[in-house]
Amino acid sequence: MKRSIKGSIAISGASSGIGEACAIYLDQLGYQVFAGVRNKVDGETLKRKTLDRVIPIIFDVTDRMSIEMAVETIQPLLNVHGLTGLINNAGIVTTGPLEFLPIDELRKQLEVNVLGQISVTQAFLPLLRKSEGRIINIGSDYGRVSGPLLGPYCASKFAMEALTDALRMELKPWAIDVSIIEIGTVRTPIWNKSIDQVNKIWEKFPEQAKQLYSPIFEAVKETAGKLEKNGLSTDAVAKVIARAIIEEKPKNRYIVGLDAKTNILLSKILPSKVLDRLVMWYLGIPKNASITGEQSYITGQISND
Ligand SMILES: NC(=O)c1ccc[n+]([C@@H]2O[C@H](COP(=O)([O-])OP(=O)(O)OC[C@H]3O[C@@H](n4cnc5c(N)ncnc54)[C@H](OP(=O)(O)O)[C@@H]3O)[C@@H](O)[C@H]2O)c1
Repeated sequence: MKRSIKGSIAISGASSGIGEACAIYLDQLGYQVFAGVRNKVDGETLKRKTLDRVIPIIFDVTDRMSIEMAVETIQPLLNVHGLTGLINNAGIVTTGPLEFLPIDELRKQLEVNVLGQISVTQAFLPLLRKSEGRIINIGSDYGRVSGPLLGPYCASKFAMEALTDALRMELKPWAIDVSIIEIGTVRTPIWNKSIDQVNKIWEKFPEQAKQLYSPIFEAVKETAGKLEKNGLSTDAVAKVIARAIIEEKPKNRYIVGLDAKTNILLSKILPSKVLDRLVMWYLGIPKNASITGEQSYITGQISND
């Protein structure tokens, strides 16, 4: 059964990828979309891809002041029903070995993907309460299965699983549904951005880090490239996200993509040690990946040969 009121939706991170696809699709469905972007140019570019209705709103999920200004801008533009839905989509990917990853990089990952989402949710909740609106958090199968070098990103998505569940139960008295969309691989700019990010961090690592982790690093980078090529289209993902808004009784979790479905199922049924081995194999990490580096590190024989 579908909800009868077509209202208004706010989306964070609508300048590209999944957020942009949601803005376009929900606009086509007749929703008033408030599309979160971080600069005017991205807002104008998005407007050109959509019908006239879409209103770009500039905010950064790590900047509380800009979020509050966004709420102030949106509030008078809403009809009596208030805001129908908030899609917490903005995100970045930080990867790297936890042994050497600068703590500020980990902090930034969590600032954007976790604290930013809650900050936006807090600010938008008064608008959602009026309309018994919905919150849709964008998660990932990496919120159910972790992997080497993917720790920071996975931590952020695991955290969103816990926060989504807590929030859903907390908001039950006001009939505000909270769902998480657990998405597999999708072809979006996030992949290239993450490769740029990891290359930059890698350059700053001490020689030991490169010695120890380069086999894993190279394997993960190569696998990431292959995965992205076979990823889902953003349009397919936007359609599932729209279901979480439209369906009378939204699910707690929507799993998108065969890869996500498989990974999540395996995470539930396999013993943890077997899952570890499977993840390493899936990422193309050779069994003895760190052995050579580890030995030379321990014996102090670090060299480039
Ligand atoms: N692509 C996948 O395979 C995949 C799979 C599972 C889940 N996801 C999740 O889907 C969501 C969207 O990612 P995507 O793949 O569509 O990547 P994307 O194209 O890179 O989009 C990310 C969006 O987040 C915005 N953003 C980044 N930092 C921000 C900040 N501090 N404040 C506000 N906005 C910010 C970006 O804006 P700027 O352009 O201004 O940087 C961009 O609009 C993320 O949460 C991601 O973790 C993606």
